[in-house]
Amino acid sequence: MTSTRQWLLASVALLCVCGAVESKRNFKCPSGCSCTKESIISKILTEVFIYCVFFRCRLLNANSLTTIKDDAFSGLPHLEYLFIEGNKIEMITKNAFRGLRDLTHLKCAQPDCIMSYIRDLRGNSFQCICDNKWLMMWLKNTNATVSDVFCAGPGDMKGKRLNDLPIPPGECISTDFVRHQSISIQSMSADIFAFKEDIYVAMAAPDSNSCVVMEWDHIEMNFRKFDNITGKSVVGCKSVLIDDHILIIVTQLFGGSHIYKFDNRQNKFTKFQTIEVFNISKPNDIEVFQMDREWYFVIVDSSKAGLSTLYKWSDQPDRNETGFYSYQFLHEWFRDTDAEFVELDGKSYLILTSRSQSPVIYLWNKSTLKFIFHGEIPHVDDVVAVKAFRVEGELYLAMTCYIGDSKILKWTNKQFTEVQALPSRGAMILQPFTFTDKHYLALGSDYSFSQIYLWDVETKTFHKFKDIYVQSPRSFTAVTTDRRNFIFSSSFKGKSMVFENIIVDLSL
Ligand SMILES: *[C@@H]1O[C@H](CO)[C@@H](O)[C@H](O)[C@H]1NC(C)=O
Ligand SMILES: *[C@@H]1O[C@H](CO)[C@@H](O)[C@H](O)[C@H]1NC(C)=O
Ligand SMILES: *[C@@H]1O[C@H](CO)[C@@H](O)[C@H](O)[C@H]1NC(C)=O
Ligand SMILES: *[C@@H]1O[C@H](CO)[C@@H](O)[C@H](O)[C@H]1NC(C)=O
Ligand SMILES: *[C@@H]1O[C@H](CO)[C@@H](O)[C@H](O)[C@H]1NC(C)=O
Repeated sequence: MTSTRQWLLASVALLCVCGAVESKRNFKCPSGCSCTKESIISKILTEVFIYCVFFRCRLLNANSLTTIKDDAFSGLPHLEYLFIEGNKIEMITKNAFRGLRDLTHLKCAQPDCIMSYIRDLRGNSFQCICDNKWLMMWLKNTNATVSDVFCAGPGDMKGKRLNDLPIPPGECISTDFVRHQSISIQSMSADIFAFKEDIYVAMAAPDSNSCVVMEWDHIEMNFRKFDNITGKSVVGCKSVLIDDHILIIVTQLFGGSHIYKFDNRQNKFTKFQTIEVFNISKPNDIEVFQMDREWYFVIVDSSKAGLSTLYKWSDQPDRNETGFYSYQFLHEWFRDTDAEFVELDGKSYLILTSRSQSPVIYLWNKSTLKFIFHGEIPHVDDVVAVKAFRVEGELYLAMTCYIGDSKILKWTNKQFTEVQALPSRGAMILQPFTFTDKHYLALGSDYSFSQIYLWDVETKTFHKFKDIYVQSPRSFTAVTTDRRNFIFSSSFKGKSMVFENIIVDLSL
């Protein structure tokens, strides 16, 4: 059988099938037609049929198709072979083949049909931009004889021969942050924790005098209320998972601080321990960490009279001691704001920031089992928060300043040195996070939009990437669940917000 004959037969069979078929999903072979497994009708355009066997498609016209319009093949991104035969195509609009990313063969019966499109490109109107990536790929890979196409732009691409340009895959992939959920709870902090298969967030909500625990709903894809631990002016709410128990440390401005434990039978948090707060008068932040398999946390005190205090977990039922007990008093008479635990070259450090002096570094002494003063981080003052992060194995600190510039410091030659300053009027938080190999910083603002910065691999600095709006943001916490990436932002004066980090393919 000649190929023409095969083709004609296929066409006849196809017309028969197509009459009643709407889409691949509702595929039902009409009576009077015979359907084979590999004959899949993928799409019907107005008066046009596309006939596909695997990824080889033929475009037929029932009557007299003269134009192939924009996005004619949308929904068929994996189409590899396209034969446009027996048509009287007169016009192919500019974006007709848009989205055909995998196209490797394009043939037209009418010798002119694709050429009429490419003629435009030779007329120097071809922009070498992500929108046209699919066509650039096609032009590079095609075996069809196409004369040289030159870029009409943008910028320094102008005049370059398409075949001389690299088109690395992924070049046209970007990301974005979009609003996903807003939660009508004002919060000072948000601590995300995972337990078994589930994700929770514990929010310190001073206005409603509680620590609100929310649970991620895997079906609705949002956070919903789980429990409400009531207190008095709750300023901190932090989880610790010890031996299959969920504990939540709740610090308050009044009425002392307590630890709650999740009670499986009651399905809620119940009071577990009242912690000693001898020298604490104004708790600000809680930092939880482990050293040599022992659990510790620091309550940072922001009053002049108070002392930031280190607590250690003790489990000695014979001495009636199961809980956290104060272990060491740190940093006297300074208005501490934040603590960050860092491990570096096998040593453990604690960095404390303060409103009234430069940040200080404490080193864990493995023989005395106490933190000892190690040094200051000079040239940075009045820091409200400190967060550590790593990029390509290097250690960095993000220091938030409410007045003046926030700073990025890098650990080099056994000290922290400033590498970047970010203008940050009214910032209470500069939070580093990483999603799918991209490093970001979220810089809050009490007066304006918060900003997301993106790490630039070449300059090794952060660049402004996106504005997001949260009223008086106090924390940004990254959470990955159901293979999606989110940023949870607490808001001191408005709604707490969840943003999703989405992938954007600029070539579509
Ligand atoms: C172009 O032709 C060569 C040699 O026949 C073949 O190996 C290659 O796969 C063809 N390219 C495409 C995109 O079909
Ligand atoms: C938590 O409970 C307290 C007391 O029952 C209530 O006043 C408060 O509004 C609740 N908070 C939230 C966020 O539901
Ligand atoms: C901290 O509290 C303890 C226990 O009350 C007390 O003995 C100690 O003197 C206090 N330290 C300071 C520096 O106030
Ligand atoms: C432990 O605490 C319980 C209840 O508070 C008390 O009855 C008991 O005497 C205590 N035991 C010791 C060894 O202190
Ligand atoms: C740890 O403390 C001991 C005893 O005070 C001291 O001899 C030692 O030098 C300290 N180690 C470090 C690394 O500072």
